[in-house]
Parts: sequence; C-alpha cells; structure tokens
Amino acid sequence: MKRVGVLTSGGDAPGMNAAIRAVTRKCIYHNLEVYGIKNGYQGLIDGSIEKLEIGSVGDIIQRGGTKLFSARCEEFKTDEGQQKGIDQLNKFGIEGLIVIGGDGSFRGAQMLTRKGFPCIGVPATIDNDIAGTDFTIGFDTALNTIIEAIDKIRDTATSHERTYVIEVMGRDAGDLALWSGLAGGAESILIPEEQDDLEDVVVRLRRGQERGKKHSIIILAEGVGSGIEFGKRIKEATNLETRVTVLGHIQRGGPPTASDRVLASRLGAKAVDMLLAGKAGRMVGLERNELVDHSLETVFSSKHKTNLDMYSLSKELSI
Ligand code: F6P
Repeated sequence: MKRVGVLTSGGDAPGMNAAIRAVTRKCIYHNLEVYGIKNGYQGLIDGSIEKLEIGSVGDIIQRGGTKLFSARCEEFKTDEGQQKGIDQLNKFGIEGLIVIGGDGSFRGAQMLTRKGFPCIGVPATIDNDIAGTDFTIGFDTALNTIIEAIDKIRDTATSHERTYVIEVMGRDAGDLALWSGLAGGAESILIPEEQDDLEDVVVRLRRGQERGKKHSIIILAEGVGSGIEFGKRIKEATNLETRVTVLGHIQRGGPPTASDRVLASRLGAKAVDMLLAGKAGRMVGLERNELVDHSLETVFSSKHKTNLDMYSLSKELSI
C-alpha cells in the first residue's frame, strides 16, 4: 500500500483533529502518502481530496471540530454514490481509507469494503454509543463540558432554591447523562437504558424536601424525551420552582481533553497499522486500556453496554 485516504463523517467530535494528525503522521512515518478527503462521503463523491503533509496537521491536536469538515451524505447510501466514491479513490491512486466517525459513518466504510475497497473505522462521537470500544473520541471532552455547565447551574439552583432539569445529548444512549450525572452529583438521572419514571423522580424530590433540601439537579438524556416537557411535568407534580436548560451543541465543541487527545492518537495510529497488516472492514477500539479491533459486522450486531452499576451507584450516592 502506497496511498491512504482519511475522512471525518457524521457529527463532529472533539479529538477528531488529533485522530487526523495521528493517521497522517503515522502514514508519513511508514513512507505512505496520505490524502485528506473533505466533507466526509460528500467530498469523496465530489473528489474534494488533497494531499496532507507533516505540516498540514501541525497545530491541530488541541483544536475541536474537524479540519477536514464533516457532513451527513444521503447519496453515499446508494450504489451509484458508493461507485462514484470508489472512482475518485482510484483516480487519486488511494488504496485504503480510514473513516473517523460514528455508527452511520461506518456503514459507508462497510459498503466500500464489501465492494472491494479496504476501510478501517476509528470511533469518534460524543455519544459513546459504539460497541467494541469502551470509549469513543469526544466523549470525555463533552462530559467535561457538561460538568462545567452543571457546576455553574448548581450555583444558581442553590442561590434561588430551584429545581433544574438539564437535558444532555447522546442520541439513543445514556452514557453522557449517566457519567455527567454521577460526576455532577445529580439528584436524579434519566437514561433510555434504565428509565426511571416521573413518579420516581418526584418521590426523590419530596424526600429531599422533607430533609430541608432546597435545590435539585436532574439530568435527562435526550433519548428519554424533551427536557422542556419533563420540566413542566415536574412543576405540575411538585409545585417546585423548576427551570430547564437544554445544553445542545455546546457539548460538541471546544478543545479536546488530554484523555481524548491520547485516545485519538492511539486509535488513529493503530488504524494505519491495521491497513498495512491487510485488515479491512474493521474498527479499532480500546477495551480495558488495550487496543483491539473488531469486524464492522460485529460492531453493528452488538450493542454498546452502558454501565448500569454506575446507575445504581448514582442512586445510592444521591439519597
Ligand atoms: O451524534 C452526536 C450528536 O450530537 C447527538 O448527541 C445528537 O443527538 C445529534 O448528534 C445532533 O445532530 P445534529 O448536529 O445533526 O443536530
């Protein structure tokens, strides 16, 4: 293999740039040429492809977002779209592709691999919802962003004796809510994997009130439902002064944490090694702090396991 392509696809995640840097530098270390494909699969179809040098990825390890831009591309779900992508890869003499993104992005990588073009996936999404890796790139940074927000909101919750519902991202997964709720000392956490209902939350709020607690923080995963609606129901059921904060896309931005930079560097470099070893249609991951790889088939057919012991622990600690 002489030429490798790299793209980022789907929602951006802090640490994607560190992964692009690792892929690029590791390729150059192995005397491979590396090409950056802009705008994800859309850029692949359009031939928006340029050679990356050592300096192209300088000064990006600390930056959020993605230097290669990202997109969600409907056309690439079709045979024609995939063939256009393969034609572009052939035109540039690229022989292997590294896809940095989430579940949806890996579907494209799997289709290309099935059509004979070797691809490796690097898991990057703030949601931490991918099977075959304990952590995805971007999760730790998003988590820290949420914690900063919870700490700030708690100041106002305390000063005004209010109940706050904070809605966090995660798509259908509860990891961001669970980890931030535990780290932020939330009174209640609602996640899709283990759903407390309104009644449970109300019982906990009342119990707090009885022992003189004047403020509460409830973390709600977006996969459970709307924070605004939940806030209204809490207010109706308890008559407590309730406010809702939907954190939104602030959770996707900002400089990656050290942990995400290290994870991205390890996974990105390993993806290059995998291509060189002749692997294809696989995803690199980190399990128990060891680099591992799994077939994309396995990744799609398994489910990321949210740590429900942590959920029980959060309840024990927020009595
Ligand atoms: O997958 C990352 C994520 O931020 C999810 O947490 C969220 O549900 C979704 O993307 C939002 O997508 P968009 O940026 O297209 O609104």
